[in-house]
Amino acid sequence: MARIIVTAPQLMADVLAELPGHEVVGGDHAMSREELAEAIGDADALLSSLSDPLDADLLFRATRLKVIGQCAAGFNNIDLAAAHERGIVVTTTPGVLHEATADLAFGLMLMVTRRLGEAERLVRAHTPWHYDHTFMLGAGLQGATLGIVGLGQIGEAMARRGAAFGMDVVYTARHDKDTSAIDATNPRTAPTRRVDLPELLATSDVVSLHCPLTDETRHLIDSAALAAMKPTAYLVNTARGACVDEKALVDALEAGRIAGAGLDVYEAEPTIEPQLYDMDNVVLLPHIGSATRQTRAAMSRLAARNIAKVLAGEPAETPVG
Ligand code: GLV
Repeated sequence: MARIIVTAPQLMADVLAELPGHEVVGGDHAMSREELAEAIGDADALLSSLSDPLDADLLFRATRLKVIGQCAAGFNNIDLAAAHERGIVVTTTPGVLHEATADLAFGLMLMVTRRLGEAERLVRAHTPWHYDHTFMLGAGLQGATLGIVGLGQIGEAMARRGAAFGMDVVYTARHDKDTSAIDATNPRTAPTRRVDLPELLATSDVVSLHCPLTDETRHLIDSAALAAMKPTAYLVNTARGACVDEKALVDALEAGRIAGAGLDVYEAEPTIEPQLYDMDNVVLLPHIGSATRQTRAAMSRLAARNIAKVLAGEPAETPVG
């Protein structure tokens, strides 16, 4: 019987359903670094969350650990090289969360372009209003260009939604991708095209980030990138906060260098640059990209199944690297 540590609040019924016969502990609170350091020593597996700092120092203590079942698409909290050096299999949960996350990104895009947060705050504040031809005008999406930074599963799902709304889609990626599913969504749009980042920034009406956080993408959207965007363009970030230089974003918004931003993620979560709270052209969500009951259940089950397979000596379903 293996010992599996669940490091953060989890849908335990789903986790346990995939791990019969094992000792599964935790899952009711977010473990502190100290608690994790203590627990990792006699763990055979970790079911981890993106907030766990699984760095080399912590992994050094993991003398029995065979597998990390990260319950997320991203794994920038895990020192992959240190894990692999110790023979630990690292797995994530792709394939089950891209539609929910793209829904959220699309929602953020609608909120910020149509001023939905601002409009709702106005009503809730009992501000007097009446129907008026020129009241609360936003930016329309039809015929606008959606720039997808990183056409992985989530980026592609966002692109399909954009095309279905009559947006033209451009994307950055290392290589050309098969974009037939995007183009099939709405024949009205121009064919989806791969472009380089400078062209994407210069031509997009909405720039939506869907890249992982790596050394290459940290502060990918810095002050120069923000200055390269159209002053009428919006930034949407459901990827990782540190892909954007948040202070530079504040400066760009204050200077009117871009029109607005829809954010689900932040550089130093849950801390947010204070000026952003007061900007009406910014939508702030608390990192809920994949937070539907169905998606989170599927993620829990996949993370647990990966652990069960590795412990049984079988290949993981969705390993990293
Ligand atoms: C969420 O941000 C994830 O990586 O799954």
